[in-house]
Amino acid sequence: MRVRNTMLMAVCLLLLATSSALAAAAQTVAATPPMGWNSWNFFAGKVTDKDIRDTADLLVSTGMRDAGYVYVNIDDTWEGERDASGRIQSNSKFPDMKALADYVHSKGLKLGIYSSPGAKTCARFEASLGHEEQDAQTYADWGIDYLKYDLCSYRTVMQQQAPDDPAAQNKLMRQAYEKMHQAIVKTRRPMVYSLCQYGWDSVWEWGPSVGANLWRTTGDISANFDRMSLIGRSQAGLAKFAAPGHWNDPDMLEVGNGKLTHDENLTHMTLWAMLAAPLIAGNNLTQMTPEIGAILMNKEAIAIDQDALGRQGDRLYAEGPVEIWLKPLKDGRKAMAIFNFGESTAEMRGIGLHLKEAGFSGQVSANDVWAAKDLGRIGDDSKFTIPRHGVVLLVLTK
Ligand code: GLA
Repeated sequence: MRVRNTMLMAVCLLLLATSSALAAAAQTVAATPPMGWNSWNFFAGKVTDKDIRDTADLLVSTGMRDAGYVYVNIDDTWEGERDASGRIQSNSKFPDMKALADYVHSKGLKLGIYSSPGAKTCARFEASLGHEEQDAQTYADWGIDYLKYDLCSYRTVMQQQAPDDPAAQNKLMRQAYEKMHQAIVKTRRPMVYSLCQYGWDSVWEWGPSVGANLWRTTGDISANFDRMSLIGRSQAGLAKFAAPGHWNDPDMLEVGNGKLTHDENLTHMTLWAMLAAPLIAGNNLTQMTPEIGAILMNKEAIAIDQDALGRQGDRLYAEGPVEIWLKPLKDGRKAMAIFNFGESTAEMRGIGLHLKEAGFSGQVSANDVWAAKDLGRIGDDSKFTIPRHGVVLLVLTK
């Protein structure tokens, strides 16, 4: 009898420990902005199992995994039909999702997937409407660690169920996101939950209440300076909505894609780091140049993004094409980015660094991140020459 009681107690303790470990894991998901890679920006609808495996290999061999890029996220177009029991299957581009997840995990990486609360995804593949619990369980069975849940055709449901009633439509949308959150919780597998509804209805105000770890704040990014910088600059004012566990998501990185110049790639990486944005690379790693690798893997830029304080940066000052953004860091230092969004070189004539507004009383010690240079003590009147579409990123200490 005593033996049986002791055994029973041991089993109970084990169960208790497992469930509190799971709860803790769920809470620590996205304590800093998630980092990884996503298939959409480069591969779009063409992504295959092989692309994901190649990417996983390259995340390791390029050093990106060790720099923090751990999530390998399959975006839209992996979905096949449902079987007789309603269970979602992957399509012929992804012959065995469980085997793929095992492969990705064997590399010390995590696997992400994509769906929609609507009947169809944005690319018109099978989505989760009416199958939320079943899909979440399938993802958990496969070993999925991250779900991007994209509104897409759920808009039709909202329109049909609440025609011309924005408040009721918003309620339906929140309920749909909450439903998938609960379905994920029920699986007991920690998954990062990424909302994608293009920033509608001030999602930053209610994202945390539906379990979101991140939420898109805008429509889709594309690999050109105008779109990227418009999105980045439009994040001003959203800083107060970001915190450890839940982040504003100005969309995935285009660094290394399209015709972005060196300075434009630096501006992109700097803006996203200042915004404490999720750093989800979107380039083709099989063709990544050392120059792009160095931008994506710059330790200090990543440290600014990932800083444990979890404070998103904001615009401090703007004068014409020059904008100064500031991000407080945990150890009392501050990251300052001076952008030139203009079409010609900026010399900052007449523009001070606004150190007082940045919270400093006099001179500061400055480190120039992209130049990898200690600048010593600098004052408010320090001038930088900033190329067209370029940036100077400083870390300032009292
Ligand atoms: C939407 C999203 C994109 C991508 C595509 C896939 O446009 O905003 O990020 O996921 O759908 O179809």
